[in-house]
Amino acid sequence: MHSETSLISRNVPFVSTSFRTIQTPIPVPASIPLLKEMASCEPRSMGGQPPIIWDHAKDFSVWDAYGNRWIDFSSGVLVTNAGHSAEEIIRSLRDQIDHGLLHSYCFPNQARIDLVRKLNSLVPPPLEKVFLLTTGAESTECALKLAKTCGRKVGGDRKIVMVSFRNAFHGRTFGAQLMGGTPALKEWIGEQIPGFVQVPFPDGWRNTDTDFSAFERSLAQQGISPETVCGVITETFQGGMGCFAPKAYMQALRKWCDTHNALLILDEVQAGFGRTGTFWGFEHYEIVPDIICLGKGISSSLPLSAVIGRKDVMDLYGPGEMTSTHSGNPLCCRAALASIERIEKENLVRQSALLGAILHETLNTIQKRHTDVIGAVMGKGLVAGVMFTRAGTKDPNPSTASQVVQRCVEKGVMLFAPVGPGGGTIKINPPLCISEEALREGLEVFEEALTEAEKK
Ligand SMILES: Cc1ncc(COP(=O)(O)O)c(C=O)c1O
Repeated sequence: MHSETSLISRNVPFVSTSFRTIQTPIPVPASIPLLKEMASCEPRSMGGQPPIIWDHAKDFSVWDAYGNRWIDFSSGVLVTNAGHSAEEIIRSLRDQIDHGLLHSYCFPNQARIDLVRKLNSLVPPPLEKVFLLTTGAESTECALKLAKTCGRKVGGDRKIVMVSFRNAFHGRTFGAQLMGGTPALKEWIGEQIPGFVQVPFPDGWRNTDTDFSAFERSLAQQGISPETVCGVITETFQGGMGCFAPKAYMQALRKWCDTHNALLILDEVQAGFGRTGTFWGFEHYEIVPDIICLGKGISSSLPLSAVIGRKDVMDLYGPGEMTSTHSGNPLCCRAALASIERIEKENLVRQSALLGAILHETLNTIQKRHTDVIGAVMGKGLVAGVMFTRAGTKDPNPSTASQVVQRCVEKGVMLFAPVGPGGGTIKINPPLCISEEALREGLEVFEEALTEAEKK
């Protein structure tokens, strides 16, 4: 859980650079009645983010309506890979609106045709068929349904076990939370639902046992026979810490799934569309999964997600049996096509790799100067998880992490609230179109905020 947002304005030093402007106390006094009204109309769960009312955003900059401007290190929440309000996206949306089709249910529309063709061209075989949905959680729910259906088809009633990883996050709907590895998110379920098993994620830092034998051992310890496993799902990197599994582990997992006729599902909702310095995150492992789940950066804007998988798996359901009202909404599809166009045209995947090297080198240097509060830095490309820990331990330190976020925001660098185990991870993930100068400036601010929080 994020901590409650304080709605008491702080007088903060004003800032004026070519990328940042802070010219009011934070939160802005005039915005407080609006923030309070929102809190009274919405569930508490919608709170917890820095108290800034976003007014407009362009590329890697975010503005409020009071003249303040931030360097965006959040990308919303790893959504705006192609940048906020990209010209291409705005133009495509305008064209689609002028063209006059905003919805067509499951009746085909040209935008959907164009997008599934494009996505199909971007994935390696045997990934082939593309099913469009609206949210990331819907895509992981769909993958779960397909794995369970496929398992029963090839292995009968016993082949229903879905394996996922501790500390994983696959969304907040029922099935997604059953697969998610966070006990706190599951308390409300109240009972153990059979058919879901979790194994330790080989992050190499909190869990140093990164040999694939740990996967098999964990299943055996939980009494799970491999023949009963219908699928294994993992985030390509665990979003809560930004950590990847070792390549050898993932290659062994690929083989294990083949041997035991289980589907390998990679949740690329955070990792796809260039975020990690390759177009797909799974390229780092040199494997191809049976199903991928996509969302967030697919459109850099409007709500859209997708499941892409093997033909035999994606065709398990007959006409009308696996659909959704807003699947392939023409505006969302146009946004996605335009976002992909910008990523390709401006070579933002390469940019993510190049600037990612600067991001990680700088953060590693910062870590060395602040080992009492930063336990580790993880990630690849333009995503980094900075693990805030209590001195001399690997225990999460959510209070310092929250203070650093607050101070960064007060200084003109936008971050979302800390995430991950114990709320101790600050994620740094700017739009892929950020300039090197803005990235370096934002990282200087991050260290300044960190130094101040340390002294407190
Ligand atoms: C890896 C991963 N999968 C799934 C989801 C769920 O996506 P959504 O919030 O769009 O339902 C998220 C969201 O943060 C995610 O990071």
